[in-house]
Amino acid sequence: MQKIRIGVLSTAKIGVQKVIPAMQQADLCEVTGIASRNLKRAQATADKLSIPKAYGSYEDLLADSEIDAVYIPLPNHMHVPWSIKSLEAGKHVLCEKPIGMDAEEARTLLSVSKEYSGQKISEAFMYRQHPRWKRTVELVQSGAIGELKAIHSFFSYYNDDPENYRNSADMGGGGLMDIGCYSISLSRLLFDREPVSVHGELEYDPEFNTDRLASGLLRFEGGTSVFTCATQCYKDQYVKVFGTKGKIEMDWPFNPDFTKTQRLQVVIDDEETIEEFAPVDHFTLQAEAFAKSILEDKPVPVSLEDSIKNMKVIDAMRD
Ligand SMILES: NC(=O)c1ccc[n+]([C@@H]2O[C@H](COP(=O)([O-])OP(=O)(O)OC[C@H]3O[C@@H](n4cnc5c(N)ncnc54)[C@H](OP(=O)(O)O)[C@@H]3O)[C@@H](O)[C@H]2O)c1
Repeated sequence: MQKIRIGVLSTAKIGVQKVIPAMQQADLCEVTGIASRNLKRAQATADKLSIPKAYGSYEDLLADSEIDAVYIPLPNHMHVPWSIKSLEAGKHVLCEKPIGMDAEEARTLLSVSKEYSGQKISEAFMYRQHPRWKRTVELVQSGAIGELKAIHSFFSYYNDDPENYRNSADMGGGGLMDIGCYSISLSRLLFDREPVSVHGELEYDPEFNTDRLASGLLRFEGGTSVFTCATQCYKDQYVKVFGTKGKIEMDWPFNPDFTKTQRLQVVIDDEETIEEFAPVDHFTLQAEAFAKSILEDKPVPVSLEDSIKNMKVIDAMRD
């Protein structure tokens, strides 16, 4: 079976700890190379994760004709520049969320990508690949919980490390970019339309000048979504979805434990059902979906048009 040969730009924590091992479990792709700004770091990571090739610069990886596609887990301000360089080098691109610094930068990426129509590019919103999320979409779209009226979601962690890019405004830090993007993405996914109005309340860290507590109110035709994301708060995450005749709830909607069965609490007309989902790694499913879109020339899991719409809501919350 033909496999997509993936190269990874950087030794980022998310790649090393989660995404690369998950990609290595996928049938349709393999991790062929990893690049770092530092060759020794690239080599050490390649050895640790049994990756055949290591490169001392991102450019060297892009110059390798034996790499078909790149996975980009760089700090946010580097997403669009390195996505463009990767397209120019002839690679397909799976880029981490959020796709860029704002909608305007994302639109630039879209317009460049049109020059490379044979190459795929997708934002890595991995949560959408989990069967629990696919089932939630199905329940909402089929009208099982009636008409969708309200979504409440929450995502938080504590991180005040000045060395972490999340606490640098210039690098695209802040909670809204890092985790608020999930609440926006899932709200647009479930309502299946764009919000007609967006309101944001953001509290900024006085030292970092990045948002550390952000709450959003998105009004859609037919209902609302409210959410809070926080980067200096005890860690938690949940999503609750309310319709006219039922509701859906899930814990750890974005970082489920892949080794454990996941649950979806569904209440319809006062009758509660707990739906269970066998342990599965959404990063493996994301890799399969991305590779399949290349191999079968099908639409990518998350289109750039979709990514731009998500960035537009982030922009509106920051206005
Ligand atoms: N989907 C998810 O579940 C998920 C989870 C976490 C993070 N993410 C996304 O993944 C991306 C990376 O997050 P992370 O926490 O893994 O990042 P990280 O550990 O801080 O790694 C970022 C990497 O970028 C490279 N880099 C290049 N220029 C840099 C610079 N000026 N400053 C810092 N690093 C630089 C470094 O690799 P080298 O030194 O090897 O070149 C560094 O290891 C972000 O876009 C984030 O939103 C997604």
